[in-house]
Amino acid sequence: MGLIGLGNVGSGTLAVLAGNAAQIALKLGFDLRVKMVCSRSAHSKTLPEPFSGVRRTSDWREVVADPDVDIVAELVGGTSVAAEIIDGAIEHRKSVVTANKELMASCGSEIWSRAIRAGINLAMEASVAGGIPIHAVLREGISGDRVVALYGILNGTSNYILTEMEKRGATLEEVLAEAQQLGYAEADPSADIDGYDARSKLAILAALAFGEKITPADIFVDGIRRISPLDFQYAHKLGHTIRLMCTARQTQDGLILSVRPALIGTGTIIAGVQGAYNAVWVKGRYGEDTFYYGRGAGPLPTGVAVVSDLMRVAREIRHGKPERVSPFAHERLGEYKPLSVTREKCAWYLRFRVDDRPGIIAALAGILAEQRIGLEAVLQLPCETKHDLPFVITLEPTYELAVREAVQRMSQLEFLREQPLALPIEPPL
Ligand SMILES: NC(=O)c1ccc[n+]([C@@H]2O[C@H](COP(=O)([O-])OP(=O)(O)OC[C@H]3O[C@@H](n4cnc5c(N)ncnc54)[C@H](OP(=O)(O)O)[C@@H]3O)[C@@H](O)[C@H]2O)c1
Repeated sequence: MGLIGLGNVGSGTLAVLAGNAAQIALKLGFDLRVKMVCSRSAHSKTLPEPFSGVRRTSDWREVVADPDVDIVAELVGGTSVAAEIIDGAIEHRKSVVTANKELMASCGSEIWSRAIRAGINLAMEASVAGGIPIHAVLREGISGDRVVALYGILNGTSNYILTEMEKRGATLEEVLAEAQQLGYAEADPSADIDGYDARSKLAILAALAFGEKITPADIFVDGIRRISPLDFQYAHKLGHTIRLMCTARQTQDGLILSVRPALIGTGTIIAGVQGAYNAVWVKGRYGEDTFYYGRGAGPLPTGVAVVSDLMRVAREIRHGKPERVSPFAHERLGEYKPLSVTREKCAWYLRFRVDDRPGIIAALAGILAEQRIGLEAVLQLPCETKHDLPFVITLEPTYELAVREAVQRMSQLEFLREQPLALPIEPPL
């Protein structure tokens, strides 16, 4: 094998290979050998003992061209150099293991087609929910079922932020600053808190679950920036909590895909997913519910996923069995066509902050009535500041299109301190 990228995932992979070499050889019936490692600063890296003498290079082209290398692990990330590495490996007929969600979400189906044409193996378990073997589950474990819905908590950083806000009543800015100091969140947190990282992962999982070509652009995305400690107080009153939910649901007309904060019942198993953990809940037509939980990232959990992929690919190479069917778009099926999220019908949470005066509820209720939206409840927790008064209205199940139009009209009302916050209330999972 040749490993390209010696950062978090590359170093975790080497640590697992070093610590677990004997077990791996027993499970496989042969040794896995690292022939070359590569990173821009490969020559100055400290590698685990068994690999200290392994050949090092800062030029990935040497790895993909080396006749002694059968499997290339692309652990660099991003969509430019990583794409060149994978293309180079396929050209040289090397099998590929990758942890790259961004690349696989945006052009996984094209990469798979090229890999199949070249007769090589491709594996990408580490690209979604690092420590949870969810690819293996969807491709093998429950492949006999027909998936009707998939729900996930797929971004550890935003889940950590939300659960800390919930526990301590802290603001998003406070928790984010701490997470950045502790190294849990990037200096530029946008990919995590604006939902883009989770969207790439959902694109891959939905493609695997539904056998459809799904790209990130098919998925509605909204991040957690507007969630405040106040929203947790109101959500708790309603018997709910708030999580950044990734959902893919099959309807009669097609698939509805979204990544956004939503209210979920505190009694559900997914509400118990705390801190940086990830979870995936899959609903099948025949086998019904299955739930998968584990660490979403980190050098060692992700290293285990990479090593397990390396073992599978090595085994398949030994037995001369490359994967012949792409997990993306095994067939384009009309019923799995992505649909606009505005066709989703569910209950809603609307949170307002207003400059208090008579007639506010009447004005809001008037707009809801015009859109034929049923109001379910009005909640107001004690608050002393009349000029910035929060309260919540919950709505009966309504199509998102109507809710968006109502929110748009409400946003013009001059007593509002900020735009209303509209969150879907997930039906009991
Ligand atoms: N971090 C996680 O927990 C996690 C979990 C699941 C999946 N992933 C995915 O795994 C991949 C790697 O993530 P990471 O966190 O390990 O990233 P990272 O810590 O930034 O490591 C990237 C590595 O790639 C090397 N590199 C960058 N450009 C290169 C080039 N042109 N030629 C050779 N080497 C190059 C870097 O070299 P230098 O060190 O010499 O600069 C570094 O060793 C990404 O696709 C990420 O999305 C990460």
